[in-house]
Amino acid sequence: ELGPYSHFMQKEIHEQPKAIADTAEVFLDGGFNPENFGKNAREVFGSIDSIKILACGTSYYSALTSKYWLESIAKIPADVEIASEYRYRDVIADPKQLVITISQSGETLDTMEALKYAQSLGQTHSLSICNVMESALPRESELVLYTRAGAEIGVASTKAFTTQLVVLFGLAVTLGKLRGHVSDEQAQAYTEELRQLPGSIQHVLNLEPQIAAWAQKFAKKTSALFLGRGIHYPIALEGALKLKEITYIHAEAYPAGELKHGPLALVDENMPVVVIAPNDVLLDKVKANMQEVGARGGELFVFTDLDSNFNESEGVHVIRTPRHAGVLSPIVHTIPVQLLSYHAALARGTDVDKPRNLAKSVTVE
Ligand code: M6R
Repeated sequence: ELGPYSHFMQKEIHEQPKAIADTAEVFLDGGFNPENFGKNAREVFGSIDSIKILACGTSYYSALTSKYWLESIAKIPADVEIASEYRYRDVIADPKQLVITISQSGETLDTMEALKYAQSLGQTHSLSICNVMESALPRESELVLYTRAGAEIGVASTKAFTTQLVVLFGLAVTLGKLRGHVSDEQAQAYTEELRQLPGSIQHVLNLEPQIAAWAQKFAKKTSALFLGRGIHYPIALEGALKLKEITYIHAEAYPAGELKHGPLALVDENMPVVVIAPNDVLLDKVKANMQEVGARGGELFVFTDLDSNFNESEGVHVIRTPRHAGVLSPIVHTIPVQLLSYHAALARGTDVDKPRNLAKSVTVE
């Protein structure tokens, strides 16, 4: 079943070009049409004025990423909340809000209960983004679009995350078109980006030996910091979660602009700092943040694009993803942090596919 791979996690990381292509097919074949999300989706999408996304763990990070797309592409207010928090607080219900749940398994108890709570408050419009057909969350939701990642066995989520991002991007463009913020020409450009995405992912996978070499250094550390800004901040969060889940190394993620507000105190020569730094409008800001780290002796491990002007120097290591992926860059930059954690876990000899204390599907509170 594993073929040439040593673990399901490694296999699932390498399945991403196909999983992403399969998931994107719905938009590549069917266009950015509301009907992809269900028969009455056009009516539902036309009636909403904001979005609330509820999820746990990695699925929560895909939700956080999508907030940037939803607000910049579809110009619709989007709010993201951890399901176990939402379900126990006083919520001001808004019937014109679409409640989206994101879940690989479709069976996560807190996410399910959060959806039921929203419904009990009169939130009738719901969309489930899920990887398991006919599981509890899609059954309970008005609309559904399945990710086509195939079965995910490793406890650490990989291909489910990146395919969720594909669906969420497709949702943002669909809503943007419907709301008059995305022209046909722009939609065509987004289609092209999606079409090229599997190829870009394959290019990053080819960097595995370089990333594995970095991982040897991480394996010896007790702590690591992940930084990103804007839409890449959730990718830093995802990188930190992957590292702690499978290597048991303490890892934290921060928006790089927050360094001075506390985490910089942690930085010294023993603290590796991973930076997700694609060539976007925030790159100069990120570089300034990196200098703050460098000045404290922190060792920097930077994932960036081919066309950004970074140079390796004392204490600054750089791996370039081979193409600039534009608006889909968070998806491309997820792959290196997955591989980094995987190889650090291998070096530490942990149980990669079944990390201690964790279950694949969390059906208890
Ligand atoms: O099945 P779900 O997407 O609802 O699961 C949510 C989390 O339990 C899950 O993403 C968890 O955080 C993963 N182990 C992360 O790798």
